[in-house]
Amino acid sequence: MKTQVCIIGGGPSGLLLSHILDLNGIDNVVLERQTKDYVLGRIRAGVLEHNSVQMLRDYGLGERMDRIGKPKNGTLILWENRPEFFIDVKKWTGKQMMAYGQTNITEDLYAARESAGGAVICEADNVALNDIETDAPFVIYEKDGAKHRVDCQIIAGCDGFHGPSRRAIPQTHRREFTREYPFGWMGVMVEKPPLDDFIYAYHSDGMAMAAQRNPMLSRYYVQAPITDSPSDWSDDRFWETLLHRFPAEVAAQIQTGPTIEKSMAPLRSFVSEPMRHGRLFIAGDAAHIVPPTGAKGLNLAFSDVHYLQRALVAFFKDGKHALLEDYSQTALRRVWSAENISWRLTKLLHVFPNEDPFEQKIRENDYDLLLMSEAAQHALAYEYIGLPFDD
Ligand code: FAD
Ligand code: DHB
Repeated sequence: MKTQVCIIGGGPSGLLLSHILDLNGIDNVVLERQTKDYVLGRIRAGVLEHNSVQMLRDYGLGERMDRIGKPKNGTLILWENRPEFFIDVKKWTGKQMMAYGQTNITEDLYAARESAGGAVICEADNVALNDIETDAPFVIYEKDGAKHRVDCQIIAGCDGFHGPSRRAIPQTHRREFTREYPFGWMGVMVEKPPLDDFIYAYHSDGMAMAAQRNPMLSRYYVQAPITDSPSDWSDDRFWETLLHRFPAEVAAQIQTGPTIEKSMAPLRSFVSEPMRHGRLFIAGDAAHIVPPTGAKGLNLAFSDVHYLQRALVAFFKDGKHALLEDYSQTALRRVWSAENISWRLTKLLHVFPNEDPFEQKIRENDYDLLLMSEAAQHALAYEYIGLPFDD
């Protein structure tokens, strides 16, 4: 098979890139290792920043989001024995976020690809990238026991943290920056009405978080040791821990019940530089991971797609290489900003095992500064809503 762009990975970044390239008349094929149902079943992000909302609208994908998503003015922080604080992005930036789940977005993207007749090949096994340093790279994959070859001009590696694309860049040409955290987020989904706000709750036993998917579906998280698995957390243990970490008056409003999903998300900061090698361009979780504090991962994946589609359109339509040459550098500026805010919020809102009392005093002082300084409130809101795209 021959195409212009072979996209590896049919998650949100691969599908969005495919959709936008198609709108621009650029031929592409998506290779996804899993079944479509598996991809749609993964429960992940819940919050979109303004730029991502705008991208979905601009590319004709905003109809259901605007119908059933919930615009949000910011996120609330509750702190044991201290006043609450609202990260008020509306007040400081004039922009809003949107509560709209990744599951819905992926459904919308698959529907768009299907109605346009886009080539999304699921259950593609043993995907291997070849000749990425030449002008004629190709990808080999297996499906139903048969081997296939995709010849292309560009490979877009949108295959998440565990995919093969990043690893196709020779070790000698890439540098990885990593921070592992000694805890994860144990998350549950419950068919009960959520609280009004997204809430991070700091407690000396650990962080807890209230999130939402729709009027009858709530998502909650508690900080848990990295070694824990969902089987260590009965529903009773989960709810007891969660309610204990919220102030009593808020805990009283949380509607608990049998959970319909429970999973553990490890916390990690990770960046692989550069995001390009020869004719391979990587985007989204394939290139970087942020801890979920700050809700930046999916938004960052969309930001990479913004820069990559722009560069590919210039390349294929006008024969211009400059934006492709600049892709890695441009995308990484925003990546590092998101890494920075996600890391700082993670440090602020979690309990780190074996930390000395000095660090705790600094944490409390950081929070107190937010409570009293409008400059600090403005700066946090500006970073939290996501930096504007570079021109
Ligand atoms: P992925 O979603 O990982 O998609 C990659 C795709 O590539 C997958 O479908 C995978 O099956 C496929 N693939 C892998 N290997 C291969 C292979 N060998 N061949 C072919 N295909 C392959 N982000 C936010 O912005 N806001 C939030 O509120 C938020 N909350 C989160 C909460 C949790 C608990 C977690 C875990 C994450 C959260 N994130 C959030 C992060 C967000 O979910 C990810 O950043 C996002 O999914 C990245 O999209 P992606 O398309 O780059 O990668
Ligand atoms: C979710 C929301 C957040 O604000 C966040 O930081 C992490 C996850 C969610 O909706 O799942």
